Amino acid sequence: MRVSMLSFLPLFPLSIADYCPPTGPVLPPPSIPENFAQKELNEVLEHFVKHSSDYGWNATVNSFSVSATSREETFFSNHYTAPLKNDTGVDKVAGDTVYRIASGTKVFTVLAVLLEDRINLEDPIGKYVKELQGEEYGDVTVRLLTNQLAALPREGYTWDKAVAADKLVPLGFPQLAPSDVPPCGTGVGDRICTREEFFKAMPGFTGQIANTVAYSNVAYSILGYALEDVTGMKYAEVIKQKITEPLGLPDIAAKAPKTERGILPINNGPWFELDLEYVTPTAGLYATPNHLDKFLRSILNNTLLSNVKTNEWLKPAAFTSKLEESVGAPWEIFRPRGLTNPPRPIDHYTKSGDLPGFSSSYIVLVPEYNLGVTLLSAGPEASSIVAMLLDIFQGTLVPKLEKLAREQAQEVYGGKYEAQSKDTNSSASIELVVDKGPGLKVKEWKNNDKDMLQSFYLTILGGAKKGDEPLEADVRFYPLGVDDRWRVVFNEPEGKNEKRKGGKNRGGKKLLGAMREDACLTWFRVDGTRYGKIPLDEVVFRVEDGAVKRVDAPGLRAEMDKM
Ligand SMILES: *[C@@H]1O[C@H](CO)[C@@H](O)[C@H](O)[C@H]1NC(C)=O
Ligand SMILES: *[C@@H]1O[C@H](CO)[C@@H](O)[C@H](O)[C@H]1NC(C)=O
Ligand SMILES: *[C@@H]1O[C@H](CO)[C@@H](O)[C@H](O)[C@H]1NC(C)=O
Ligand SMILES: *[C@@H]1O[C@H](CO)[C@@H](O)[C@H](O)[C@H]1NC(C)=O
Repeated sequence: MRVSMLSFLPLFPLSIADYCPPTGPVLPPPSIPENFAQKELNEVLEHFVKHSSDYGWNATVNSFSVSATSREETFFSNHYTAPLKNDTGVDKVAGDTVYRIASGTKVFTVLAVLLEDRINLEDPIGKYVKELQGEEYGDVTVRLLTNQLAALPREGYTWDKAVAADKLVPLGFPQLAPSDVPPCGTGVGDRICTREEFFKAMPGFTGQIANTVAYSNVAYSILGYALEDVTGMKYAEVIKQKITEPLGLPDIAAKAPKTERGILPINNGPWFELDLEYVTPTAGLYATPNHLDKFLRSILNNTLLSNVKTNEWLKPAAFTSKLEESVGAPWEIFRPRGLTNPPRPIDHYTKSGDLPGFSSSYIVLVPEYNLGVTLLSAGPEASSIVAMLLDIFQGTLVPKLEKLAREQAQEVYGGKYEAQSKDTNSSASIELVVDKGPGLKVKEWKNNDKDMLQSFYLTILGGAKKGDEPLEADVRFYPLGVDDRWRVVFNEPEGKNEKRKGGKNRGGKKLLGAMREDACLTWFRVDGTRYGKIPLDEVVFRVEDGAVKRVDAPGLRAEMDKM
């Protein structure tokens, strides 16, 4: 029986002009050598200090630490110590200097919840925290608390402006009745609220539950209570037993270390050692750059959570109104497109932390390169310093890692592969190259002496139906990240698509392409074409002792040895 070309036709023929790779790494994460990009990264940080006033910060009073780790080890670190600081702390900032990481804490609180088998993310929080048992909280699941969708108050009584009423009344704010002033708050000089007072500040939602992200510190204090009530341990002990002890990270802790180990900004009073009590699960942890790096390595290495659970943890839960930013549990996810060429989103899973005027942090995971980055600052301008560091550091490092990943992929996978089978007289060969586009480009692919790039154009891309001359499809391989399996993505020949459609503005139909027509549908087509039960969109590299020996194209029944 003749196989009709029609049976190959996809439901929706491709019509996208760009490469549309799968999400995630487009090449295997590079192995990053020690001291990688040291010179360029140090230069950009030196510039940041030398020209601090151009950047808008004061290098006399702010200190910072920057470090970057691969899955194996820290490959870069740089520390800057302000000449003016509180001398109770360290003389010189280093990898073992303790900072308060503020809301970076939320990552640890969520991880502790994920590691606690007795807490089910889909349960209403009232199952674990008795104060929230009422019907009012029946829709508020633990998961919604982890990912900023619970519509809970941001701070409760903490940071209430009532404490500054004497300055605000002259500006037009009304006089407050004594009963309107919260009895407790957070911070030096305030009495920190008790558990009972904390829940008194709760009633009311900031919006529709599960609808719009709204940053809530209160949510993570509640998760802290849930952890304490379920385990019968204090939060500090929960973090120790579940995370920092198994990973060997004594310098990450909820209890203040000796002040001599910390970086204390000038004239900031006793903020360093202040016990934040119920605020601790949302913003109270202490950590060093070295141990944060180690913690990030443990996430990249799936040490506490399995690969699958980690994948699930690193997913967005909600959009923001900026396309490149979304929110997870508790990740602040950035997808900058401008760091690679051709542009494509490089997913950054970050968490910021800020004790305003005292210390700030950013922890960053970039799975694309198996990269972890820790940014810490102490001083009156710490929050804008870590924000700027995120941009300038990643802006310098990512293009270099991209280049490294490409060079390594070309070295390891690039070149010719060939097979000769005596039994069937069939032949197969393939040539792979890292070109300017993403992934591994198939430069040439022959099977049974036929040009498969043309054959795929005619079959998988529906070229036969279009009656086109047989062009060569743009075929690229992308790693699946497991078992040396790679996805094969078939695209229109480069430059062909626009011509076929007659340009962007065809027939004056300006509305075309806004949604479906130019959509990135690679995800839609995974396992979309099988030949004799076996998917055509998968190949497997056979690797021995770190070297590629062979590539198998199971759909074509071809095994090709590396030449
Ligand atoms: C930086 O801080 C120091 C110490 O407070 C101060 O004397 C100096 O004027 C500040 N510099 C700028 C540019 O604000
Ligand atoms: C990665 O995890 C494995 C166990 O899964 C462990 O043996 C190894 O030490 C870890 N490596 C790092 C750098 O954490
Ligand atoms: C210096 O730090 C210590 C310890 O945190 C603190 O008690 C003291 O108030 C600080 N000094 C100033 C001037 O802020
Ligand atoms: C392989 O090709 C040779 C020469 O053309 C032919 O004699 C032989 O029968 C072929 N074998 C098979 C299995 O097709």
